[in-house]
Amino acid sequence: MSANAFELVCVDCARAYPGLVLRYRCDCGGTLDVVHDLDAIAASVSRETFDHRRGSADPIDRSGVWRFRELILPFGEGSPVTRGEGNTHLYDSPRVAAFTGMKRLLLKHEGENPTGSFKDRGMTAGATAARLLGMQRVACASTGNTSASMASYAAVGGMQAIVFIPEGNIAYGKLSQALAYGARTLQLAGDFDAAMRVVEQVCNEENIYLLNSINPFRIEGQKAIGFEMLQDLGWKVPDWIVLPGGNLGNNSAIAKGLIELHQMGWIDALPRMAVIQATGANPLYTAFKTGKPLEPVTAETIATAIRIGNPVSWKKSMRGLQALDGVVEQVSDQEIMDAKAHVDAAGIGAEPASCATIAGLRKLVENGTIDPDSTVCGILTGNLLKDPDAVVGYHKGTLSGIDSPHANAPVSVSDDLDAILAELRR
Ligand code: F0G
Repeated sequence: MSANAFELVCVDCARAYPGLVLRYRCDCGGTLDVVHDLDAIAASVSRETFDHRRGSADPIDRSGVWRFRELILPFGEGSPVTRGEGNTHLYDSPRVAAFTGMKRLLLKHEGENPTGSFKDRGMTAGATAARLLGMQRVACASTGNTSASMASYAAVGGMQAIVFIPEGNIAYGKLSQALAYGARTLQLAGDFDAAMRVVEQVCNEENIYLLNSINPFRIEGQKAIGFEMLQDLGWKVPDWIVLPGGNLGNNSAIAKGLIELHQMGWIDALPRMAVIQATGANPLYTAFKTGKPLEPVTAETIATAIRIGNPVSWKKSMRGLQALDGVVEQVSDQEIMDAKAHVDAAGIGAEPASCATIAGLRKLVENGTIDPDSTVCGILTGNLLKDPDAVVGYHKGTLSGIDSPHANAPVSVSDDLDAILAELRR
């Protein structure tokens, strides 16, 4: 193979399919990995190439995904469907560090992507693959962020988006985006897992390109979170990466990318990885603890983004966790919302699922798994504005089953100077 060639290889039986082909699964049913020719890539580009591109004036080079294109999806003479994704800030937050018990804490805020979540990194790659394959329509099942991202990238790339979402269990910011970007939006009576089951069949029947993270190119794009994080750190590998887990595409992707860099000799060690699940949506946690194959659960959590009971990418996820000496932790909805109150009050802010990262880190420091002196990079996956109901509900104390010990409730005051001054001086 050359630096521009790659294969799709089955995770279960290792059968290989050459290049960019229209399939998400092997004939045996297993999911597929993109396998690049790492030797050829290492011979053609270097860390310095990527660092140089970061400062380039070319918008493709500046994208926090396409800067690493040889390791993502070589697009040849074509052009990617891009919104200049990535380039998210790596916060150094003493306030959030103190809440978790860490001496120092770095937070890569993927909510600063164009549509407000990390999904844009995978979506730019998936939408580019769709266009290279000549697809007119793209579809996904989603708890909200994937649909928001896909709707935007489909519109930018001139394709029709069709989204399947669980009715009533999607945050309003995300639903607004899908509608606003012009996606045909089908609200299904079932949950995400039911929507996921049906969308693959619909795509196969109707020749629509499936852009869930079962699509191997989505995973390739999401690897760039890890690449850019390393670039932010001057290619110094942190001790730990901590992130939430739902459908388990993201942790699979970040691990895959780091393993590739390690194989190429561009990093001298691998970080450890901690995947955090909500207690009510914890099939990976259980599988990891018991060492048994993943058993689907009926999911329920206030963090609707990760309200997933039958994650598609669990085998890839386990493989990454093994390679990175990973752990899986679970946190309650109360722990998620209290952690969120701290992330928000630190001036950074993120949606509930993202704050599972912080709640989980706090637990892992408390139980001695993570050393407070180590270098930890937490990933915040989605923007604060995605789920305004969760924010206002917490601060007004109206969320069912959730206490609000860190509430910052709004105060009603009459339109009268004395009353306002009395309130401010109280
Ligand atoms: N955080 C946020 C904000 C998410 O939207 C998701 C997934 C995750 C974490 C979990 O990532 O699935 O790769 O393990 N949201 C998907 C969606 C499922 O449809 O938007 P994962």
